[in-house]
Amino acid sequence: MRDIPTWQVMPASLDDFSGIKSLYMRVARQGGGIARTEDEISDDYIRHNLDSALARGIAYVAKAEGSIVGEIHAYRPIPKLFSHVLSDLTIAVDPDFQGSGVGRAMFTALLNEVVASHAEIRRVELFVRQSNLKAQTFYQSLGFQIEGHFQQRVRRHDGDLEADIPMAWLRA
Ligand SMILES: CC(C)(COP(=O)(O)OP(=O)(O)OC[C@H]1O[C@@H](n2cnc3c(N)ncnc32)[C@H](O)[C@@H]1OP(=O)(O)O)[C@@H](O)C(=O)NCCC(=O)NCCS
Repeated sequence: MRDIPTWQVMPASLDDFSGIKSLYMRVARQGGGIARTEDEISDDYIRHNLDSALARGIAYVAKAEGSIVGEIHAYRPIPKLFSHVLSDLTIAVDPDFQGSGVGRAMFTALLNEVVASHAEIRRVELFVRQSNLKAQTFYQSLGFQIEGHFQQRVRRHDGDLEADIPMAWLRA
């Protein structure tokens, strides 16, 4: 097994802005995972995610030797009819740290917080592209279920279209 530096999961803060942006750019460059390409990782995008999650959601980061190597966030949509939903969930782990437990540790922290401290949240939802089987298996292992197929929703690098898969975790 590769030697990777020790990492720790902790709640995200405003100070993490630059580290999260640089993480998202590295993960976007890898392709096939998060929705945005590297040139679409703007300050506004990162700021919106961080501000929304800190105001009405949950965000965690993983840090190794002071650098951000993983991030997860989700937040409640503004309309009151969705006040029991945690949505717009995105998770990203530094390519050098993928497969080392960082994603599971961050996601477990998020779901533990939902269960322990957010009784109002009944549903956590996300989208994952059909070809990202690794992520789908991972989410299923955390209790998420596939709810359908949004056919031809995602345009891949090669121009082909693929389905986007809605998945949800429901409070028991
Ligand atoms: C998907 C992602 C968040 C998972 O995080 P991670 O830190 O790599 O995952 P972990 O090491 O915690 O492993 C979690 C599970 O993922 C699966 N997994 C991890 N690496 C895998 C691999 N190389 N092949 C197959 N499955 C793998 C396993 O089911 C693993 O379960 P286990 O804990 O029982 O072994 C991360 O790989 C990533 O950021 N990928 C690129 C961006 C992306 O796809 N984001 C999600 C968009 S919906």
